[in-house]
Amino acid sequence: MLERVIPLVQQRNARLALPPVPQPLASTGLLSDSRGRPLRDLRISVTDRCNFRCNYCMPKEVFDKDHAYLQHHALLSFEEISRLARLFLAHGVRKIRLTGGEPLLRKNLEKLIAQLAQLRTVDGTAPDITLTTNGSLLARKARALKDAGLNRVTVSLDGLDDAVFRRMNDVDFPVAQVLAGIEAAHAAGLSGIKVNMVVKRGTNDQQIVPMARHFRGSGVTLRFIEFMDVGATNGWRMDEVLPSAELLTRLQAELPLVPLAPSAPGETAARWGWANSAGVHDSALGEIGLISSVTQAFCGDCNRARLSTEGQLFLCLFAGQGYDLRSLLRGGADDTAIASAIAAIWQGRSDRYSELRSTLAADAGPGLRRVEMSYIGG
Ligand code: GTP
Ligand code: 5AD
Ligand code: SF4
Ligand code: SF4
Repeated sequence: MLERVIPLVQQRNARLALPPVPQPLASTGLLSDSRGRPLRDLRISVTDRCNFRCNYCMPKEVFDKDHAYLQHHALLSFEEISRLARLFLAHGVRKIRLTGGEPLLRKNLEKLIAQLAQLRTVDGTAPDITLTTNGSLLARKARALKDAGLNRVTVSLDGLDDAVFRRMNDVDFPVAQVLAGIEAAHAAGLSGIKVNMVVKRGTNDQQIVPMARHFRGSGVTLRFIEFMDVGATNGWRMDEVLPSAELLTRLQAELPLVPLAPSAPGETAARWGWANSAGVHDSALGEIGLISSVTQAFCGDCNRARLSTEGQLFLCLFAGQGYDLRSLLRGGADDTAIASAIAAIWQGRSDRYSELRSTLAADAGPGLRRVEMSYIGG
């Protein structure tokens, strides 16, 4: 049976103690954790709310009308987010991804994007600002987001068949509106559009080939994600995971694909290109990505930090607790103190949950309960 929400609320109150910082730690852009991994990618959740109820993320039975969402005063303000983002960039972050819940539900999000777009990386370049959305509000907002300085967008879409999609989002939302959102993003000039499809065996795996055919040659990169055991409420079972290797075999039975080299260190997706009749990658047909966090963990070069809506810093998608940066912000700490705390936290990081999954207990007890994806974002 699915568990109720009380533990989630308790878990929000439990925070990790900030590490002691005897002297200021300089922001050199060269920070690395205890396993030698740099800090490059900052994911910022701007709301814990969503208008969808995807069963693998926010099952209706748990995220119902009684669910305790964060109150407005608990949320970091845009100024607080921008200040932290500036300090993270000084430590080497290059990419900022806005997530949720559903980030487009946060009012005036474009104002935050405009603030972030003014910031600079240690190289003096603008950060790569991107967003993960369910696409439901994208048709309406794409132009304003682009104008504010958003570079890219990733849309979650779990099937093309309307009935399957309505079942997956569990709020009866039509697929046509998400497809219109993707079109609008394209028309607004957002580049590098990606579509993320979480695959659950027996639920939407019949959509793999239609999705691949639909996006092949469209300029959109489709990425297939293995259903993960993230959070504590989605009833994850290994037999509902469709391993990427099997998915690839299914695709290659229909259409030829060839492996492509990674485009950046620490990438989540293995890239495969659509091939022409000579078996060579045809760039006009584009590529797909396979995100295999269950069957082929990619913790080895994980360079991602996650900032929750209320300003807790999580070092892993599967962490149970975060470090409370909001208390520093609201307690009057200066930039040096906050930057030093971030450095000390990252330097102490050793997380590699997906690599250790098979050797860990599913729920390691009080305090180690995993945070929900809708709370810290994908
Ligand atoms: P790009 O910026 O385009 O490279 O995207 P990305 O791959 O960094 O980010 P995206 O948010 O699109 O990630 C896709 C999916 O991969 C997420 O929704 C998660 O399901 C999964 N994922 C992302 N980061 C991690 C991670 O650090 N660990 C694990 N286990 N899964 C992750
Ligand atoms: N497994 C894999 N991916 C998930 N997401 C949410 N829950 C899961 C899960 N259990 C990802 C999806 C979605 C993004 C917001 O989070 O990729 O696109
Ligand atoms: Fe909402 Fe995305 Fe979670 Fe679905 S996966 S419930 S769209 S946050
Ligand atoms: Fe990074 Fe944790 Fe995901 Fe591994 S499981 S890739 S350490 S976020």
